[in-house]
Amino acid sequence: MSGSGSARRLTLDDFRHEALGETGSTNSECLERARNGALSGLWITAARQTSGRGRRGRAWASEPGNLYASLLLIDPAPLGRLPSLPLAVAVAVQAAIASVMPPGVDVRVKWPNDILVDGRKVCGILVESETLAAGGQAVVIGIGINVAVAPDHGLYPVATLRDFGCAASPDELFAHLFRAMAVVLGDWDGGQGIAPVIERWRSVAGGIGERITVNLPDRAISGRFAGIDDTGLLKLDLDDGGTRLIAAGDVFLMSSAVRQP
Ligand code: BTN
Repeated sequence: MSGSGSARRLTLDDFRHEALGETGSTNSECLERARNGALSGLWITAARQTSGRGRRGRAWASEPGNLYASLLLIDPAPLGRLPSLPLAVAVAVQAAIASVMPPGVDVRVKWPNDILVDGRKVCGILVESETLAAGGQAVVIGIGINVAVAPDHGLYPVATLRDFGCAASPDELFAHLFRAMAVVLGDWDGGQGIAPVIERWRSVAGGIGERITVNLPDRAISGRFAGIDDTGLLKLDLDDGGTRLIAAGDVFLMSSAVRQP
């Protein structure tokens, strides 16, 4: 699998799955496999993680009952196109979750790739990458979905899929995720197909047009969420009339019952 631009489009057959009972972190498992020569397209799931990782060095509590899944990709796209990968991932995860929810439950993406139901976080995504000694870039997409347990990660209001009437097990949800990710990564096509993916992202985004606060590494800024640009950067309309483009940060929607950062 390669995102060089000339590679063929990914299909379901490009992916395989290994299910573990317990591990430290499925992201760490994937990175370790990559260092040992694993090929692209490996999904690892675990029933429980003992050292689950969240974004910005936070822990991700990982008791049984939820889905903990990581996908290893090797050289999924030229480096310049990699920043759009988290948006494609969010579109796939949103579709997978929506497909196991009762009709009428609105599943939304919060930039860049948290998934919310009724303004509460039900899923977190952590994308990590590493240059391999043997050459090539290992990219690991880690996905934690609160199926039955909602650990309080401190920053956002949280919920489980069960809270909204989902009856699917983590394994059933994973089957949807496996398929949705193959389809969306095929469309994304090593970053060449980002335009339709961004359109899909916009159609399921939460908070566009609303007042938001973005936690940057050094400070927090507030403004109106004006959407994302064609590369996936967040557009924030500031109170002084300017617009700021943001590549990374924690977003707090004012419409959900958020704890202030
Ligand atoms: C976040 O902080 O919102 C991202 C959380 C990502 C958690 C998942 S669970 C599966 C994978 N393994 C990890 O250690 N982390 C990710």
